[in-house]
Formats: sequence, C-alpha cells, structure tokens
Amino acid sequence: MRTIESIAELRAAVADWRRAHPGGTVGFVPTMGYLHEGHASLIRRSAAENGLTVVSVFVNPLQFGPNEDFDRYPRDPGRDRRVAEAAGCDLLFMPSVDEMYPRPTATRVVISGLTERLCGASRPGHFDGVGTVVAKLLHIVMPDHAYFGMKDAQQVAVIERMVEDLNFPVRIVPCETVREPDGLAMSSRNVYLNAEERRQAVILYETLQLAEEKFLEPGMTPGKLAEAMRESIRRAPLAVTDYAEVLTWPDLRLPEERPFDAMPPGSRFIAALAVRFGRTRLIDNRLLEIRTPAGKE
Ligand code: PAF
Repeated sequence: MRTIESIAELRAAVADWRRAHPGGTVGFVPTMGYLHEGHASLIRRSAAENGLTVVSVFVNPLQFGPNEDFDRYPRDPGRDRRVAEAAGCDLLFMPSVDEMYPRPTATRVVISGLTERLCGASRPGHFDGVGTVVAKLLHIVMPDHAYFGMKDAQQVAVIERMVEDLNFPVRIVPCETVREPDGLAMSSRNVYLNAEERRQAVILYETLQLAEEKFLEPGMTPGKLAEAMRESIRRAPLAVTDYAEVLTWPDLRLPEERPFDAMPPGSRFIAALAVRFGRTRLIDNRLLEIRTPAGKE
C-alpha cells in the first residue's frame, strides 16, 4: 500500500495503474478516518470488485457546523494505515486541509430537496460540505465504483442524486451497515460514549427493530410509527431524540398520513433516527418496503 498526500501524485498513480491495466476498474472508499470494521468491510468489498482500491482519509471541515466536533473528531493516522492495508487498500490518500482547500472555496455543491429533513435539518450546511468534498474527491480519484455505508443513508441518497444530476461517470455502491454484537451501528463517534451511554446506545437498534415490527401492524401509519419510535427512545434515560422520522425512500419526502397497508406494494420508506447522548450524536436507520402479497408476484 502506498500513502499519498498530494492530489497531483494521487492522480498520477491512478493514471499509471490504468495505463498498466487496460480495462481494469478502480474502486474508491471515501472516509474521515478513525477506521473501524464498517470501513474495513467497504474496503474489502472494493478490493474484491476492483483491480485498484483507493481509500481517502480526510476530516472535511466544510461539513462540520461551527459548534460541532471538527476539532475533537477522533484521528489516528497510524491505525488508519494498518486497517486500510489489512483490508486491501492499494493507495491511501491522506491530504491536508491546505491541499484540499488551498483557499476558501467559492464553489459549493448544493443538493436540494433531499437535504431539508433529518441530518440536513439538524446540521445546516452539512450536506453542502459533503457534496462539495465528495465531488472534489470523485474528480481527483476518477473511480469506476465508490462505496458508501448505509448507516449514513441520507448521505447515500444525496450522493446518488448528485452523481445522477451531474453525470459523474461513477457507480455508487451502497453497503450494509456493520454492527457491534448488540446491534449498535459502528461509528467513529462511538468512542465518545462513556460506559453507561454505550450501554444505553443500543436503544437506536432496538427502536429500529420495533419500527420494523410495527410497520406490519394493520392500520399503522407513518406518523404513528414515528411517534412509536420517539416513545421507544424515551426508554433510555440518557437518550435525547434529535429526530425520529419515517420518510419515503430514496427521495426523503414526508409520506401521506394513511395506513401502510393501503399503499401500493413496492413503496419504500426509511425509518431514521438521530439520538444524542451528552455531546455525542448517533444516527441509524432501517429501510422498509411494502411487500407484494404472497401469490401475487
Ligand atoms: O461519510 C463520511 O465519512 C464523510 O461524510 C465522507 C463521505 C468521507 C465525506 O467527507
């Protein structure tokens, strides 16, 4: 594995590889580092599906609000190198903030419609920062496939839309959320939790399990399901709900308030939540689909 800090060098390394491997594909895993098993699974998938795998580690200041955790976001470049290499990364791109933003960027990628709710509402400007950095990274790496974890489902929807709207020549590959044994979604921010918060953080997973069960109850509506999720989160005394919503997937609109069992088969929804434990904000989600009744396929 080669570690590269400059954009020009990364571009040259990818171009050299493409010249030497005509028809070979390049996979890309963008990350903010502090790599865990969730990232490793994305890297392994890219390595299995492509001849060259590029991983970026860059804590992007543009996607953090003024009162958010940019400065204290966990960083461990040495461990990132070891995890990335063990998972099959070939080129590890670790640019500095100056390399990515040599001067304040006058250009922002704004993906509207999909960003007004959920994390877009709680973190104003966050998805402009994500869209801008991902657009830059995709232009730098020029991959055939880019791998994103579904824990950040809204991010996946936003990036897929940007890539489609702006004709980026890349296929976005959404990958299943990797979880701890008790169901908590893996996240670099889990390290912020103290022992009691960590114990109670399983409420996110339990709430989504409950949402999946309740979704099938006769007469259940999106609004009632969201309320049941909020009630479930209240069972964890340290948890403060930031949002618990049920939206259409993948366009993230508020669904009509009528029973799911009166909606057409194939309709898809996302049950999404963000919960704070002290200063730590955790997110998770579950996709829900109205199945075609048996025998009617
Ligand atoms: O999901 C993340 O880690 C970040 O939002 C991403 C996609 C690397 C952009 O900074």
